[in-house]
Amino acid sequence: MSKNILVVGGTGYLGSKVINHLLSRGAKVSALVREGSDSKELETKGVQIIRGDLSKPETLLPALKNMDAVISTAIGYSNRKKGDNLKNVDDLGNRNLVDAVKQANTPRFVFTSVLNVHQAESVPHFWQKKMIEDYMDKKGVPYVALRPGAFLDQTPKNDFYAGGLKKGNLKVMGTTTIKWTCILSDDVARYLAIAAMDNTIPLGRMDIGMTEPMNVEMLAKYASEYSGKPIKASALPWAIIGSVFSFIGLFKPEMADLKKMFDYMFTGKYVADTTLQQKHFGDVPSVKDSVFRYCEQIGLSKATT
Ligand SMILES: NC(=O)c1ccc[n+]([C@@H]2O[C@H](COP(=O)([O-])OP(=O)(O)OC[C@H]3O[C@@H](n4cnc5c(N)ncnc54)[C@H](OP(=O)(O)O)[C@@H]3O)[C@@H](O)[C@H]2O)c1
Repeated sequence: MSKNILVVGGTGYLGSKVINHLLSRGAKVSALVREGSDSKELETKGVQIIRGDLSKPETLLPALKNMDAVISTAIGYSNRKKGDNLKNVDDLGNRNLVDAVKQANTPRFVFTSVLNVHQAESVPHFWQKKMIEDYMDKKGVPYVALRPGAFLDQTPKNDFYAGGLKKGNLKVMGTTTIKWTCILSDDVARYLAIAAMDNTIPLGRMDIGMTEPMNVEMLAKYASEYSGKPIKASALPWAIIGSVFSFIGLFKPEMADLKKMFDYMFTGKYVADTTLQQKHFGDVPSVKDSVFRYCEQIGLSKATT
């Protein structure tokens, strides 16, 4: 019998990919969508739309009725709407959802966390994920928290790499040599969908990444191999860029948060242990294969061999 899965965040970048994977695996998918948010694309795919909001606890319990699992990719720190922020959505909103899952006795809650959040108390949006993981433990909710590294592919608006790779001149912030764990968002989406549908995926927290950490030199090298064209990689000094982030951060807390995130990533500690990922989801994607897929995704012209 097909499973009933509720997705919170389904109108977003990652959530929409999660929905595609759920549908391709035969799930009956519902999406909790805020009033005023565009649900047309999801409706076209056959997703049942349930109007609700993490900040409105009264909308959550009815949405969970008869659900076999709920997946949340939702965040407030991407500031999609006025009033979205870490406190309202990622903290209070997520707690509301955890409380509702507990009350509804939903058998599985799949939460999108972030790699190594337990090490990163200095990074507000990372630490908030850890707080929610701990809250789920405290409440005794049956959860799987997948903890992906940095997405290799960000939303087209925030993509760090596509423009530079296409020009053959990749300029990044801070460093081309320090490595950290990356992963394609589509792989994360697939794992989230499987974690909701397959009860053999164990409850608890799990790192998600590629087979090894990556740096910008590796990205440029593999992208160059893919395109058959040279790609130069260089870094703008973090001392300067970081100070600009800190200054803007005085007025925009998200910028201060991002500065702290990069400070943490540049320690070289943002590295996944993919043992559990390998055991439960099969072969872990390699850096080369992921970069090739990313190049295809951004439309980098491929070498003709
Ligand atoms: N980017 C990375 O490198 C990275 C790395 C590791 C983990 N992650 C995690 O991956 C996820 C990525 O998210 P994304 O890129 O898909 O974000 P996104 O595109 O900004 O989407 C955010 C989603 O959350 C929904 N939402 C916001 N506030 C809500 C509320 N109060 N109630 C219900 N829904 C609400 C939004 O709905 P509306 O349409 O109504 O705005 C939207 O669907 C996040 O959990 C992030 O922490 C990202």
